[in-house]
Amino acid sequence: IAQCLFIAGSGFSEVAKARASTSKVSCCHFSSDGKLLATGGHDKKAVLWFTDALNPKSTLEEHSMLITDVRFSPSMTRLATSSFDKTVRVWDADNPDYSLRTFTGHSASVKSLDFHSNKEDIVCSCDSDGEVRCWSINNGSCVTCVRVFSGGATQLRYQPHQGKYLAAASEKMISIMDAETLQVCRNALKGHIKNIESICWDAAGDYLASVSEDSVKVWSFTSGNDGECVNELNCSGNKFNSCVFHPNYPSLLVIGCYESLELWDIREKNTVTISNAHDGLIAALAASNASGLVASVSHDKLVKLWK
Ligand SMILES: *[C@@H]1O[C@H](CO)[C@@H](O)[C@H](O)[C@H]1NC(C)=O
Ligand SMILES: *[C@@H]1O[C@H](CO)[C@@H](O)[C@H](O)[C@H]1NC(C)=O
Ligand SMILES: *[C@@H]1O[C@H](CO)[C@@H](O)[C@H](O)[C@H]1NC(C)=O
Repeated sequence: IAQCLFIAGSGFSEVAKARASTSKVSCCHFSSDGKLLATGGHDKKAVLWFTDALNPKSTLEEHSMLITDVRFSPSMTRLATSSFDKTVRVWDADNPDYSLRTFTGHSASVKSLDFHSNKEDIVCSCDSDGEVRCWSINNGSCVTCVRVFSGGATQLRYQPHQGKYLAAASEKMISIMDAETLQVCRNALKGHIKNIESICWDAAGDYLASVSEDSVKVWSFTSGNDGECVNELNCSGNKFNSCVFHPNYPSLLVIGCYESLELWDIREKNTVTISNAHDGLIAALAASNASGLVASVSHDKLVKLWK
């Protein structure tokens, strides 16, 4: 076993857990300073947690249907939630009693959202009708609204750091859009045989990983690369569902599966399985480079921290 994987594998264990909901938990994200974690799910509520002891700080209750995604702003104490109720809500983590903004306009369930990497005013969302909408928080309105897909969009994520691209998954492919204009600016990334459940960028914005039930693919955006598939891992056991790059080992991808976690050292082409990580599907993962922690949330109603 490669040394990097050995260190990461043996050093990767559960450090905290909490009951996050009375129902399935579907999304999670750390604030950029790592001090807060947000979770959300089928009980229509988002919860803010103090990361250090995994104690709840506050509960955000305004959505009328289940929450699909939660993201913190990279630069401010704001977070945003998306929901089956067709809205996007923006909240101030320091004053979370009421949302700052409610964006209405999607005509179908909002499946995912993300903050622009370096324009703190912009949040973008996608729905199950294939529409992508970018909203100005200050203006309270949609600034760019485009139908990108014929099928439903599953997840969208801005390229961190450089902030040049917005990646959005729909069915079996990923569209790469210009982060400003939302023009599709690269050939769609194709090759998945089953629908894509989740996508994630590495912290430098050089690599994008995409997860379907049966495989994970890694696409390179390093200079000279135009979104080539550079690595692939086929699922041999529990179905793949979610992903995040390890905060301290950039070549290590953490994959959330049904009950287990898979640590994949992309460079060394090795994997370590953490069995019985949860008692259900691991719906989402998050990582904090400030604390070195990984968070997992599951249909078993729990949130866990790993280090
Ligand atoms: C917000 O509104 C102002 C005034 O109408 C306008 O000048 C500005 O371009 C808008 N910003 C965005 C991001 O749409
Ligand atoms: C994964 O499975 C596909 C389809 O069966 C196959 O074409 C591909 O070579 C496999 N990749 C690896 C890395 O095993
Ligand atoms: C975490 O990542 C951000 C953005 O890449 C960087 O500015 C910051 O220095 C990193 N922090 C640590 C502790 O590595």
